[in-house]
Amino acid sequence: MLIKSKKASDVRSSEITSPSVYLDRRRFLQSAAMVGAGAAFGTIAGPALAATEKTRVKLAGVNKTKWTQESLGEKLTDYGSVTRYNNFYEFGTGKTDPADNSNKFMPRPWNLAVDGAVEKPGVYDLEDFLKPHQLEERVYRFRCVEAWSMVIPWVGIPLADVIKRMNPAGNAKYVAFETLKDAKRMPGQRRAVLDWPYREGLRMDEAMNPLSFLVVGLYGEVLPNQNGAPLRLMVPWKYGFKSIKSIVKMTFQEKEPPTSWNMASAREYGFYSNVNPTVNHPRWSQARERRIGDFLKRPTKMFNGYEEEVGQMYAGMDLRKNY
Ligand code: MTE
Repeated sequence: MLIKSKKASDVRSSEITSPSVYLDRRRFLQSAAMVGAGAAFGTIAGPALAATEKTRVKLAGVNKTKWTQESLGEKLTDYGSVTRYNNFYEFGTGKTDPADNSNKFMPRPWNLAVDGAVEKPGVYDLEDFLKPHQLEERVYRFRCVEAWSMVIPWVGIPLADVIKRMNPAGNAKYVAFETLKDAKRMPGQRRAVLDWPYREGLRMDEAMNPLSFLVVGLYGEVLPNQNGAPLRLMVPWKYGFKSIKSIVKMTFQEKEPPTSWNMASAREYGFYSNVNPTVNHPRWSQARERRIGDFLKRPTKMFNGYEEEVGQMYAGMDLRKNY
């Protein structure tokens, strides 16, 4: 994001897998998925958390929700673009680097540490951690700060349910998240493009908002490595960089946590990072966005179109200062 001189909104369609190449790959992948289906599971079991481009694994027992493609009334972004046009600097800074460089990454076994001001701190095996929860599908708009956007059918669990189960203390005003730091497994961390590990955070009311979602899959399948396997955040009214990938730690704390992009350039990236067409990035406008797959840009909506659900959390705040 920071180190790009070319505006990412100028994505040429040639940079995205063409439909025919994609269809061929898809045919191959479908047969791979059928082999993978032999390792299918009741809820989320062992092999499920280790999907790669070559082993797509369907997630079983995923409930539908009110956040459907029909209720959103927008077209889904094609699977090829969702999985081959990524930001995941741990695997390189180019858009196709994450897909190209993450296929050896093994997102299991995976531990998630929960610490700070919380009743149930501990290091949890991710599969045990997820077991009490029901997986659900939610189609959300996803708006990157680089002024491109997608519509993605995510699979996961409400963050609020996890937080209720962990039961934070009264002085826990924020929840901080960290990505795995392991340069052997994440080769992009050999370069100091960011101060590793990647960090993000939410205010507690934001984290408890019904829209906040912990993601383990997309398109009904286990989350591909390049999209943040095995566990990532999805906060649809905020710019995409808030949705931290490959999470290994959640900390409940009183103080606002430092966040990676704010540490890298505080002038450009604030803590809140709510999608706001009236506050421009210092280097480009946020008024419009290019939906990946579209030719023409469209106007960006306040809070990415989720104002009704989230606007009241920021009542009285100056969103020009708290960007
Ligand atoms: N999480 C980590 N750990 N590292 C990253 O580089 N990039 C962020 C976010 N989460 C990033 C990350 C940015 S800038 C965006 S736009 C989204 O992931 C991209 O998610 P996607 O590749 O699934 O579209």
